[in-house]
Amino acid sequence: MAVLLDGKVMAAELMEGLKARVEALKNKGVSVGLAVVLVGEDPASQVYVRNKGKACEELGILSETIRLPESTTQEELEALIDRLNHDHRMDGILVQLPLPKHLDEAAVLRKIIPEKDVDGFHIENAGKLFTGQEGVVACTPKGILHMLKTAGVPLSGKDAVVIGRSNIVGKPIAMLLLNENCTVTICHSRTKDLSAHTKRADILVAAVGKAKFVTADMVKEGAAVVDVGINRVDGKVVGDVDFENVAPIAGYISPVPGGVGKMTIGMLMENTVEAAERKAK
Ligand code: GUN
Repeated sequence: MAVLLDGKVMAAELMEGLKARVEALKNKGVSVGLAVVLVGEDPASQVYVRNKGKACEELGILSETIRLPESTTQEELEALIDRLNHDHRMDGILVQLPLPKHLDEAAVLRKIIPEKDVDGFHIENAGKLFTGQEGVVACTPKGILHMLKTAGVPLSGKDAVVIGRSNIVGKPIAMLLLNENCTVTICHSRTKDLSAHTKRADILVAAVGKAKFVTADMVKEGAAVVDVGINRVDGKVVGDVDFENVAPIAGYISPVPGGVGKMTIGMLMENTVEAAERKAK
């Protein structure tokens, strides 16, 4: 039976450490603030945004959630970001994705000054990750790596397979694992014989967006399986991995809920505290 990569426990530990850092900043007269922007009414995004606000509250971080209507124009959204870029109370700016179709996501993300880009989505931060320079790393990939390292999963020289090639998860986690000296394969919807790849993986990251997509026959015995999926099936949240059947053969496995999602929020808090610490210097 696999060792559980317990996001609840690991995130709680992370939050404890961050609480002390926020406190230390406050004692120096430095406040910490995060602005979260949500455009439209996407139900999943509303849940995520609410959880981000709660985490700020837990740490004593000032948070402001700005909810804009679906009909918001590119100009209006960019004007808001411009205002937040200049707002000294805000160390981080997060625009919840996905944005409504009529908005230019890449242009919006470029508008956030890289110092306040706590999601690590600005091309400057993405480019730094790509070229091995220090920058802000996207929260979900950063959280996944933190999980693997905390659990003591060996990485160097291991075969890592990532299913999914998004800018938010697939591409950055592939880059982080490459930096840890894994041999990385990125699979996606056009990959031929996906199982042939996944069965070789010592580390398997599933970021597909399809419930129970990764089945036991696709997993190598003893592999570390990280489930990034959040799928709603009959009102229940399930991951991309068939947990019940994969857990008995995996070496490590992250559950959904209580896995990667908790780490994502923890890393968002860490990126926000780090931005405030940079400001304080
Ligand atoms: N949508 C899904 N994941 C994320 C994330 O980590 N950050 C933002 N801003 N939007 C998302």
